[in-house]
Amino acid sequence: MRTMDPRGKREVVWIISTVIVLAVFLGSIAYALRTGYSVASEVTVLPLEKAVGLFQPGVKDLGDGRYQVDIQAFQWGFRPARVELSNPKEVILRIYSVDVIHGFQIVGTNVNVMVFPGYIAKVIWRPPQSVNGTLLVICNEYCGIGHSSMYMEIVIKR
Ligand code: CUA
Repeated sequence: MRTMDPRGKREVVWIISTVIVLAVFLGSIAYALRTGYSVASEVTVLPLEKAVGLFQPGVKDLGDGRYQVDIQAFQWGFRPARVELSNPKEVILRIYSVDVIHGFQIVGTNVNVMVFPGYIAKVIWRPPQSVNGTLLVICNEYCGIGHSSMYMEIVIKR
């Protein structure tokens, strides 16, 4: 039997390493898809001229602890400026900017999304039972002179 020269051995090592790296890479994608990991937010195009009438800021109680909260972001604030949710299990947040790019971050949670004008940013948030009381929402994208005073409150009642 012919023995493999050192160069051939090195090639085999590289091929095996590549296959292992590829297997780990594709395996983690397969695992993520199987366990339902996905990007937590999505975006819908809504041109500004169509937004009037179509996008109404406010809270909709969908029953069973589910809420849809539509929020308008503008220079410099959020409409509504305060939202009260009673024992929420799932909150569908839809945020729409009427002017420039804003941010929407609920301080102390994993909700943090950029809000582009002309798009509805949608986040499905399942606040843990431990989340209680008044949460501060801030804009974290510089959006003009009043950026630092752009905030709203979400009050969770358990
Ligand atoms: Cu809006 Cu910064």
